[in-house]
Amino acid sequence: MKKRIGILTSGGDCPGLNATIRGVAKASYELIGNDIEIYGIVGGYTGLINGEYKEMKKPDFSGILTQGGTILGTSRQPFKQIQVIGDDNVDKVSNMIDNYKKMKLDCLLTLGGNGTHKTANLLSQNGLNVIGLPKTIDNDIYGTEKTFGFHTAVDIGTEVIDRLHSTATSHSRVMVVEIMGNKAGWLSLYSAVAGGADVILLPEMPFSYEKVAKAVLQRKKDGHVFSIVVVAEGAFSKDEEKMKRKERIAKRGCTTVTPLVVKYIEEKTGIETRSMVPGHYLRGGTPSAYDRVLATEFGVYAAQLIKDEHYGVTVALKNNKITHNKLEDIAGKAKPVPKNHELVKAAKSIGIEFCEG
Ligand code: F6P
Repeated sequence: MKKRIGILTSGGDCPGLNATIRGVAKASYELIGNDIEIYGIVGGYTGLINGEYKEMKKPDFSGILTQGGTILGTSRQPFKQIQVIGDDNVDKVSNMIDNYKKMKLDCLLTLGGNGTHKTANLLSQNGLNVIGLPKTIDNDIYGTEKTFGFHTAVDIGTEVIDRLHSTATSHSRVMVVEIMGNKAGWLSLYSAVAGGADVILLPEMPFSYEKVAKAVLQRKKDGHVFSIVVVAEGAFSKDEEKMKRKERIAKRGCTTVTPLVVKYIEEKTGIETRSMVPGHYLRGGTPSAYDRVLATEFGVYAAQLIKDEHYGVTVALKNNKITHNKLEDIAGKAKPVPKNHELVKAAKSIGIEFCEG
């Protein structure tokens, strides 16, 4: 059965993209046969808009399991802008459809996060055969328990917190760590619990500055010489709850709340406080064993979907089983950390403070 498969990776890179590409390709050769043709679209949707792609052969999919980032390159093409024709006069959606047809693709695989899935759904509604694969260190894609990339980032976040304990204890300091995750706090929550943090501030639970200082002082009273505070990139205080992100940034004078948290803790508690922002370090390097396995399983499942010509869907993990969701059912939906999530409850049970305002 001859099939032409296009693959692209879109949005922020993460560990496991190459492992997924490899999984899809190897399983497609096995399940569908050696006369499949695979085209790598360069630089995400931008490559599809501009018609930049390359034919890939079997050897291209070897030796990439452990490689970080994406061999195809990626870019951000914000969904809000995708249907907008800008000064360059490029109709991005029409171009993508035209290029899909010019490439004579039977299907398009889109590896990405929430924005990627919204565009994938749009392309699917425009008649393209699309299969999504859930990628992001944020783990915030609706309809799947896990995304690939998340587990590795949790490992890295945990190591960062582990290592900060040395200076925190030696210098009797408060160490504030900012962990990526703008809209959802999964990565902060998991890294903080695994790393043994004392305070966690999540976007899902607007915090009170007073409670943060109180939690730190209480630890001192209890005889602890240090505290570790994890701040999710998108965390905000109760006072900022009603504001849009842009307003918050303008009012703060800084993008994230971390510098303000540091200043407040130091002023209110008198304890020396330092901050650390691992940033893109959390997304770098080789995927964990768990992510390699998940990426491979996702890839194999996607190959079966291609064989079955089952399109307009995205691969997912539900009840610990690999399955799929319709793109139209998940696109545009969020997956925030529920306030009563088991891990939130477990964290509270061991005395970790969320300092909700
Ligand atoms: O989507 C993954 C992510 O790393 C988020 O956690 C973070 O908010 C964002 O991407 C950063 O984006 P960029 O790499 O474009 O700065």
